[in-house]
Amino acid sequence: MRRAGIATREVLELLRGLVKPGVTTMDLEKAAADRIAEMGVKAAFKGYGGYPCVLCASVNDEVVHGIPNPKRVLKEGDIVSLDFGVFVDGYCGDSAITVPVGKIDAETARLLKVTEASLHAGIAAVKPGATLGDVGAAVQGVVEAEGFSVVRDFVGHGIGTHMHEDPQVPNYGTPGRGMKLRPGMVIAIEPMVNAGKPDVMVLKDGWTAITSDGSMSAHFEHSVAVTATGAKVLTE
Ligand code: MF3
Ligand code: CO
Repeated sequence: MRRAGIATREVLELLRGLVKPGVTTMDLEKAAADRIAEMGVKAAFKGYGGYPCVLCASVNDEVVHGIPNPKRVLKEGDIVSLDFGVFVDGYCGDSAITVPVGKIDAETARLLKVTEASLHAGIAAVKPGATLGDVGAAVQGVVEAEGFSVVRDFVGHGIGTHMHEDPQVPNYGTPGRGMKLRPGMVIAIEPMVNAGKPDVMVLKDGWTAITSDGSMSAHFEHSVAVTATGAKVLTE
């Protein structure tokens, strides 16, 4: 799983470097597809439930599952969430980052910083004997202390030989509640954080989730293994 995580990371960092005004989300899809073909690994998203691409690229008020589009031109001040995963030798990696396009306003920059910090708070809560409620509460605490909101309609997940395995990993919760973590478990923690209200809607394309109030949304994700003493981030 570490090898799948490293391959996933490599592609995401390549894409991060390509994001700038004038680039389309389909340009990013093509770069990702070309790189995984070179590496000889398998896209995790393409064909999953009929999803048409290797990459999800969600711009501004799009929360997750934005479908790459040659007409979607990134412009200065936008943010784009890049969600990507691969299988290597039958094991899956899954990770996401939200990237600024050129210079963004201070409030949007704060949203990105807080969302990434909330992911790291969730990871810091991972250790044997901790519960999924501890993880969710850690994420939620960081987000809500900053006045932002955690999306409820999508959650993280177990990951292994399938991208989505039990258990669900909510980005909210009550300390001490939920499944106990044990060494060898691997979970994808993926806070989706809205600047405004937590509500989302799915567009008629059947995939793209947007914020109901039009506010900006950010998404960061890592695949994280529970070790004997804490956590190992497989996608860093
Ligand atoms: N990272 C996303 C997830 O964990 C990717 C799923 S997109 C899909 O659910 F198209 F593959 F469904
Ligand atoms: Co995921």
